[in-house]
Amino acid sequence: MAIRNLRFEGDEILRKKSREVEVVDDRVREILDDMVETMHANNGVGLSAVQVGILKRLVTVDVWYDEEHTPLKLVNPVIVKESKETHECQEGCLSFPNKFAMVNRPEKVTVKALDENGKEITIKGEGLLAQCLCHELNHLDGILFVDLMEPGTLEYLDPNKE
Ligand code: NI
Repeated sequence: MAIRNLRFEGDEILRKKSREVEVVDDRVREILDDMVETMHANNGVGLSAVQVGILKRLVTVDVWYDEEHTPLKLVNPVIVKESKETHECQEGCLSFPNKFAMVNRPEKVTVKALDENGKEITIKGEGLLAQCLCHELNHLDGILFVDLMEPGTLEYLDPNKE
């Protein structure tokens, strides 16, 4: 496994649409493992492959950071259902270091995807998990949280100033 270099705000790749993965093979599993390692190394709760410069529909999510849960590794994830009720949440992105803004996200979503072995899985997410799944799936279509934020809510939190 290896930590990969992140792509940041202003990098044109973040605006591109990622391609479907046709075969879930060792190469894909290696990318997913690297994405988990990169996400953890940067204390992120989610990462999409485009953020490490790979235009494939791959997403990792870990909103738990505990022993009970393993990080989600999703191939070709699609939202198949979302609740009408939304919640307003503060959101950031590893590609926008120290920037945060308020975004409205569905309270609940259902996502279908393939797992790292190519098996179909369904994930039901609520709250932070729903928020994170929506955020990461947006990345696959070149949509960033700053496109969806409520005007005037963007904040820069200086990490050196506590
Ligand atoms: Ni992001």
